[in-house]
Amino acid sequence: MNPTPPVITSSADGIMIITINRPEKLNALNNEVLELLEVALDELAKNNDLRAAIITGAGEKSFVAGADIAGFLQSPPTTGYQLAKKGQTIFSKIEHHSKPIIAAVNGFALGGGCELAMSCHFRLASENARFGQPEINLGLIPGYGGTQRLPRLVGKGKAMEMMMTGEHITSEEAFRIGLVNQICKQEELIEIATLKLKLIISKPSMGLKNIISAANASDGEPSNGFETEATLFGESFASDEMKEGVTAFLEKRKPSFK
Ligand code: COA
Repeated sequence: MNPTPPVITSSADGIMIITINRPEKLNALNNEVLELLEVALDELAKNNDLRAAIITGAGEKSFVAGADIAGFLQSPPTTGYQLAKKGQTIFSKIEHHSKPIIAAVNGFALGGGCELAMSCHFRLASENARFGQPEINLGLIPGYGGTQRLPRLVGKGKAMEMMMTGEHITSEEAFRIGLVNQICKQEELIEIATLKLKLIISKPSMGLKNIISAANASDGEPSNGFETEATLFGESFASDEMKEGVTAFLEKRKPSFK
């Protein structure tokens, strides 16, 4: 029997639901998840019966609790740049997708999870959702576009605070600062996201595609910022700070940074 795949897709009425499915690891993003996510995005692009997508997480606790920290110590220290680039490329595919993609944030959206939600065209969240960029606690920085998208969505000051303190914020705070558009009861989240997308896909598809392109074009020259992020993520990835931060997380203790 095949093990349950870490990304599950389903579709009805032209709407694809992409579920990150590693609930025992709070849906952390490992290589396989990223690759399957990309397969789902390509299917959404080429299948004319599919008009839009929802990205969510399995279970009631977590959307995505970040990149898979356990894999970090197994990767050679020099691979941080490539790791960041891989995530950035897939998340950029979401942001620039020709079909609307919204995040239904059903719990923790931390690190790469917050970055995944931010790459979607907009976000709905359940009441228990928590957002944050806690990479600093691991001796790292956001590497999947967070240093670029968070300031654009919530303003530079709030983004700096979130990235430098690593603190989590509640769904109410995320709503207040514009990170999420609507808060829903957990059990109604997918239904409300589906209704929103049904309204959206009743609009002309060329118009939707052009809104996505035009809204993304107003961001100026994102590539320079993303390149800098990947380079600096690579530097942090090779550092003793990262070794201590990640080891401390895996040993379930507080890190001790010099
Ligand atoms: N990567 C790998 N595994 C992760 C993970 C991640 N990003 N986040 C959680 N997990 C794993 C835990 O190691 C644990 O596995 P175990 O049961 O085999 O020990 C399991 O998921 C449950 O997590 P746990 O920490 O026990 O749950 P909690 O309710 O006490 O805490 C969080 C929840 C989200 C606050 C905590 O898991 C956390 O801080 N995760 C990391 C968030 C992060 O730093 N993300 C950025 C990564 S770059």
